[in-house]
Amino acid sequence: MSDQDPIDPRLEQAGASDESLLTAHEKLRGWKADDGANYRMLPLVLLFAFSGLIFYAGIYLNKYSVRYSPSAFDENAPANTGAGPAVKVDPLVLGKKNFESVCATCHQATGLGVPGIYPPLAGSEWVSGSNERLIRIVLYGLKGPVKVKGVEYGAAAMPVFGKVAGSGYNWSDEKIAATLTYVRASFGNTSPAITADQVTAIRTKEGDRKEWSQEELLKLP
Ligand code: HEC
Repeated sequence: MSDQDPIDPRLEQAGASDESLLTAHEKLRGWKADDGANYRMLPLVLLFAFSGLIFYAGIYLNKYSVRYSPSAFDENAPANTGAGPAVKVDPLVLGKKNFESVCATCHQATGLGVPGIYPPLAGSEWVSGSNERLIRIVLYGLKGPVKVKGVEYGAAAMPVFGKVAGSGYNWSDEKIAATLTYVRASFGNTSPAITADQVTAIRTKEGDRKEWSQEELLKLP
């Protein structure tokens, strides 16, 4: 039994043409320049470029990083318990940020709303009227027909923002208060601020509930 396979590819290089065999031999005998055998420029250039970058990074770090110094560490410093003086957050600044990132999607950054869908907050009697109703609208949402500045809306619903069941936002009372304070002082509105305590009071009183309807709100003070 022979262990030579008759179609062993090593016996006959069917894929090699005469020409490629000749070229290979010419290269081997040094008749023809073999490009692959020489240094190539690109890797060399890259090597120098990256070495240069690493060198520069070293100089940069040495010059600009603040080096750790044991003498700068004060082991007797009081631990930061977070009990320091509370940082005062301006509700108008926080409120503007909240309003522009969320409420403005529907009511627009101008507070003018979108005719037929999103009612305006500018000059709205709901915004400048009873602060208890206003807080309820944002805490629990509003659904069904609602009249704003003489125009009937009702095509869409106002989402639930409070930390209550069914809320997609879970905004804290502070966040709601700041946003309403901003809304009451913008777009030509000039109504007094809403405090977090006022929001907490309504949330504690109402607990979890479904969206309001205009009818229910109008029965409340
Ligand atoms: C997804 C769109 C949407 C977002 C976001 C939204 N609202 Fe509304 N809002 C509505 C719709 C729709 C109504 C009217 C609901 C109805 O027709 O019953 C409404 C009604 C209101 C009303 C009562 C009517 C009026 O125009 O005065 C107030 C106040 C209000 N939204 C304030 C806010 C505030 C503040 C925010 C941000 C915390 C906010 N809304 C975010 C859609 C939205």
